[in-house]
Amino acid sequence: MALSIGPADPARPDFVGEVTGIDLRREITAGEAAAIEDGMDRYAVLVFRGQPIDDAQQIAFTRHFGPLEMATGDIARADQRRLAMEVNDISNLERDGTVLARDDRRRLFALGNMLWHSDSSFKPTPAKYSLLSARVIPGSGGNTEFADMRAAWDALDAEMQAMVRDLVCEHTQIHSRGTLGFTEFTDEERARWAPVPQRLVRRHPRTGRLSLFLSAHAGGIRGWPRPEALMLLRDLTEHATQRRFVHAHVWRPHDLVMWDNRVTMHRARRAPPDQVRDLHRTTVADSAPTLEQAA
Ligand SMILES: [Fe+2]
Repeated sequence: MALSIGPADPARPDFVGEVTGIDLRREITAGEAAAIEDGMDRYAVLVFRGQPIDDAQQIAFTRHFGPLEMATGDIARADQRRLAMEVNDISNLERDGTVLARDDRRRLFALGNMLWHSDSSFKPTPAKYSLLSARVIPGSGGNTEFADMRAAWDALDAEMQAMVRDLVCEHTQIHSRGTLGFTEFTDEERARWAPVPQRLVRRHPRTGRLSLFLSAHAGGIRGWPRPEALMLLRDLTEHATQRRFVHAHVWRPHDLVMWDNRVTMHRARRAPPDQVRDLHRTTVADSAPTLEQAA
């Protein structure tokens, strides 16, 4: 069966596509990779159902879209990691497969994934694509929601667009976790996750469309008093995450969902803390810091 991409969400037909006619366990062709990248440009989120892949297959597929990002945003110590550095561990598991204790520092840090964000916006060069593969999902809850930052930009009035068009934000994981009361970082972590600048409005390099580049990691705007910056970012986030811009993905085992972090935000939703939720994320790095990209 040939690769085909069509709308996955009738309510958001220009935002989420479903890809059929491809087996991600085998090496894909250059033509298939190009069709998927075209699909990413047209939608922004692509869903692949029924893909029982392992990490090596996920990494091989991811490499078609650019250089892999390493999981350096993770708070787990090296001796606590379950997965290779090419794979972000989006689970609630110890190395031995047991569920993390409710007060475990890694679990509390990971609760930050429930805030609207764009992956790795706290890195100098943030993420292009994220690819999330569902290995074990809980019996209830644990959806991932996506918000369309192109549509959110388009819906701003001209006055607001002019105000935010050239703003530069400072992004750090220290800020996003701080909003949840997680403030106990080591000096090493504070140094590793020092704020990085990101444009608030970006232009997609292939489609030319503008979009808001928001994230829970954004904790300031250059040249603005901090409370005023945080208030604007809160207002914009509230605007951009109205239900009309949002799609909720309900996970099935072996789903793979791929999204463009340049034009979306996403967040995890609550799941029962005592049930296993094990997803593996590979990430494609963007080509350059946002300030170096075409405005
Ligand atoms: Fe994320």
